[in-house]
Amino acid sequence: MNILITGGCGYIGTVLIPKLLKDGHQITNIDTQWFGNYLPKHKKLTNIKSDISNINKLNIKKIDCCIHLASIANDPMADLDKNLSWETSALNTYNLMEFLKKKKTKRILYASSGSVYGISKRPRVSESTPLKPISLYNKVKMVTERVIMSYSKDIEVFIVRPATVCGFSPRMRLDVTVNVLTFSALKKKEIKVFGGKQVRPNIHIDDMCDIYRLFLKVNKKYSGIYNAGFENKSILSIANFVKKNIPSKIKIFNDKNDPRSYRLDSNKIINIGYKPKKTIHDAILEIREKYFTGELKDKPNFHSLKWLKKIV
Ligand SMILES: NC(=O)c1ccc[n+]([C@@H]2O[C@H](COP(=O)([O-])OP(=O)(O)OC[C@H]3O[C@@H](n4cnc5c(N)ncnc54)[C@H](O)[C@@H]3O)[C@@H](O)[C@H]2O)c1
Repeated sequence: MNILITGGCGYIGTVLIPKLLKDGHQITNIDTQWFGNYLPKHKKLTNIKSDISNINKLNIKKIDCCIHLASIANDPMADLDKNLSWETSALNTYNLMEFLKKKKTKRILYASSGSVYGISKRPRVSESTPLKPISLYNKVKMVTERVIMSYSKDIEVFIVRPATVCGFSPRMRLDVTVNVLTFSALKKKEIKVFGGKQVRPNIHIDDMCDIYRLFLKVNKKYSGIYNAGFENKSILSIANFVKKNIPSKIKIFNDKNDPRSYRLDSNKIINIGYKPKKTIHDAILEIREKYFTGELKDKPNFHSLKWLKKIV
């Protein structure tokens, strides 16, 4: 299959693309490479350093499917430059969808976010729960979903609302919950928890990638919106879990800045046959191993917010 990936040099794309190449796909990846490029060279990979707003100027031929990952990818980063956030995600997505329609692309898979549900006291939020996005990032994701859905007559649309992703990637993110708590325990023997009672869903990066691989092949009758997160845990319970595996002290601070709290119900994806294969525990052990083998180092570009502040 000819697959166009946007934002494929990011944390998730860097793990996903080698898996897709192994599956035999022909990949074109477009990424500004804000956080560098850790993708291997491969005869079936065309890796273009560009903003997706240039899509019409690039010489891209046939596309069967697009996996759209490019975005400013969390709340504090989205707040850095509000116009850039709307432009990068919503406006660029509109242009991308027009381009895909012109190219007669069959299918798009979109990386939305489970955080579009905002704060919810419900036992679990399913795909039919009304959205209550509270941050700019959540609102941009919600609007971008709607832009993409408006093309459903022309293109098969699969929208994924992932939990917070965890686990090792060569383009590591040290700003997502499990990763940052584990890394801090390893490096400083200390885990800082802000608040702690917020419940957030989690998904291992390998499961995240396998879900995109599944949606490349499922029948079009399954198109629609899917939650993807299999472990709903409070931040404090994740910290305690890290501490069990890596000797460290937990320090708790008051925090009212990030009250997002919700539990994802991912039965819809489980009912079409997806079985999660890995857990938070696997992610912690894998990060620990990569740290001790020296494959995981503390690089400035792995701290996405600080890095983006410097370069944008
Ligand atoms: N990592 C998570 O926990 C998580 C959870 C839910 C949803 N998501 C979503 O998944 C997607 C990928 O996340 P990630 O963790 O890999 O993020 P990331 O920040 O590591 O990767 C995003 C990539 O997009 C690129 N990019 C941004 N704007 C671009 C533009 N206009 N043109 C071309 N490239 C551009 C960046 O250079 C970066 O390489 C994002 O849309 C994110 O919102 C991630």
